[in-house]
Amino acid sequence: MIKYYLVWGGIMFKNFKILDEKDKRLRQISKEVTFPLSKDEKQTIDDVMTYLKYSQIEKYAKKYNLRAGWGMSAIQIGIDKRWFVIVEELEDGSFKNYFFANPKIISNSTEMIYVEQGEGCLSVNRDVKGIVPRYARITVEAQDTNGKKFTMRLREDIAICVQHEMDHLEGMLFFDRIDKKNPFKGMNIYRGI
Ligand code: NI
Repeated sequence: MIKYYLVWGGIMFKNFKILDEKDKRLRQISKEVTFPLSKDEKQTIDDVMTYLKYSQIEKYAKKYNLRAGWGMSAIQIGIDKRWFVIVEELEDGSFKNYFFANPKIISNSTEMIYVEQGEGCLSVNRDVKGIVPRYARITVEAQDTNGKKFTMRLREDIAICVQHEMDHLEGMLFFDRIDKKNPFKGMNIYRGI
C-alpha cells in the first residue's frame, strides 16, 4: 500500500509504474474493452485520472518527481485494453476528465496541425524533436465507463491528445509519425500550435 501510494497534504494517489518506450508491450495492439467494467478496472481508471491531475500541479509534480501528463492509455500501465484517460486543466484551474473506450474516429478535418514544441509521452523519457501531423478537428465515437456510446467533437490540442492516445491502442508511439530523414517535414504545410 505505502509503496504504491503517494500521500501528501491529505491527498493520496497511486504511483503508477509507467512502461518505457523500450518495453515491447507498448507495441502490441490493445484488445476491445468489454462491459461492464469490474470494480478494479473502475478503480484503476479513477487512479489514472487522479495521477494525471497531480502530475499537472507543480508542487506535487516536484515533490514526487512526476512528469506532467495529459493523457494515459491502459497499455502504458501494462493493461492491453482499448481505453485511455485524458485530464485537461481548464482556464479556471479546475480539471476536466475524459474517458474513452473502444474509440473510433468517424470524421476528421483535412487541415493538419502539430505541436510546435514537439509531442511528449509519459513513456518517452527524452525530448524528441520533429513534426507529428495530426488532424485539427476530429469526431470520435467511443464508450464511457458504463459502456454507453457517445460521440464527441474535438479540436486543437485536445484533438491531438486523443489522436496520440489512440495511437497507443495500435502499438504506435508519436515519434513513429516523424519523418526519419527530415523531422521537420511539413512545417510549412501544417499549422503549428
Ligand atoms: Ni503517450
